[in-house]
Amino acid sequence: MFSSRRKTLLLQRARTLIERDAAVGGVDTASTPIGLGFTLPLFPDSTRTTNDEWMDRVVKAPVSKLRPEALPLTNQSANQVSGQIKTVLELAVRAPSGDNCQPWRFNVTDSTLEIGIDQSLAQHTFNNRHHASLVSVGMLVESITLASPELGLQTEVQWLATEFASLDRKSPWVRITFTSAPSATGQSTWQAAIQSRSTQRGEFSATGVVLSHSKFNFVKQSDFPLVSASVLSGEQARSTATLMDFICKSEQYVFSNFSALRDLLQWVRFSKNETQATNDGMPWRSLGLKPAEALLFKTMKRFPVLQKVFSPIIRIVIAMQTRRKIGRAGGIALLSVKTATPEAVFEAGRVAMRQWLHLEQLGLAVQPISAASLCVFDVASGAAPASMPVGYKTLYRNGLGTLMDAFCLNAGETPIWMYRFGQLTAKPTQETPRRTLASFLSGR
Ligand SMILES: Cc1cc2nc3c(=O)[nH]c(=O)nc-3n(C[C@H](O)[C@H](O)[C@H](O)COP(=O)(O)O)c2cc1C
Repeated sequence: MFSSRRKTLLLQRARTLIERDAAVGGVDTASTPIGLGFTLPLFPDSTRTTNDEWMDRVVKAPVSKLRPEALPLTNQSANQVSGQIKTVLELAVRAPSGDNCQPWRFNVTDSTLEIGIDQSLAQHTFNNRHHASLVSVGMLVESITLASPELGLQTEVQWLATEFASLDRKSPWVRITFTSAPSATGQSTWQAAIQSRSTQRGEFSATGVVLSHSKFNFVKQSDFPLVSASVLSGEQARSTATLMDFICKSEQYVFSNFSALRDLLQWVRFSKNETQATNDGMPWRSLGLKPAEALLFKTMKRFPVLQKVFSPIIRIVIAMQTRRKIGRAGGIALLSVKTATPEAVFEAGRVAMRQWLHLEQLGLAVQPISAASLCVFDVASGAAPASMPVGYKTLYRNGLGTLMDAFCLNAGETPIWMYRFGQLTAKPTQETPRRTLASFLSGR
């Protein structure tokens, strides 16, 4: 498609842009791991163009809309779901999910909620053996258990899926039983955090971050016996060269495994119409992309052959940006599981959400760094996808040792979830959409 001279010119152009950015004090702070940090004046200013039809005129790519499935169980229709449970659920679906796929399915009766997964929505190279879905279900459940007391509900959580093989069946993974209780505080502090939480992909600073035991270690270990939590300051992370190298290489992974890239691109929404039609996925602005970068991603989606051409350039830029973002973060947190069971991964998701919401309450921003943790877990537990290149299998196998040393893990603890946090110094990224409660209940 491109001659080797043309490829060399493209690479030179990218390097010049990187060097120019570095010379003037760095790449744009609102960019993401996949935000490339350069501006081409040819494209409309993102603040002025709201519908992005211009991008459709330049390149048309198929809209990705998958057809969700229902859990094959009895259900109450959305308008019969009782007041408080409905309010809790409407809040809880603000929970994070990989690429905002929102794979959860609900069965509700008067006093119980069963949660399962729509396998068709959750299929992803990064979701081998449902590890990402387990984290996401944990986050959803933790939102429910935290918000419920403020709405006069007590919850009892029962984990149902004891083996990885049972996760493949179309049956619920977890059951929550609700009972009435006097409203806990009336202050709705968790509700506010659940409502305002989002993934932030700009640069952070350490201002206002206190890593002392009392301020950061806010999750009672006895409530979550299968999970351990560790944290490093951005400064500590920056000075640990092996850790920095590992995280930077691992963030490049999606551009080295074209199945993973295809799976990612199907969830990027390139126009307001596309976002409104699906109510899922990630609007390109929420990724911190600039218009020219979004167009490049759309073109790669439309013409997959170009992925091979552009990926080497993108990998270079991602490594540079990751180094800056990790080095300047207030801190890096790691959650590890003590057993490689579905329940432990689910529990890690619960702890991750509790920490995220607590940081939100402290006014701090969070971005998951999932490739460096989920892929380590995949490889360590023998569940790496077939498409993972051999070099990356080695990277993640060695990465286990790197993370164990850097975060002082005990033998037998396996990393599953990592994120950076700090004071956001860039503009907050755009909110992601959510499907309606009715669609989670009916599967439509
Ligand atoms: C399992 C899992 C993995 C994720 N991995 C990443 C990641 O590597 N990088 C990132 O920026 N966001 C990551 N996210 C965040 C999601 O993209 C985000 O939650 C989703 O798009 C919804 O956006 P919101 O968190 O702003 O509501 C991850 C979330 C989950 C649950």
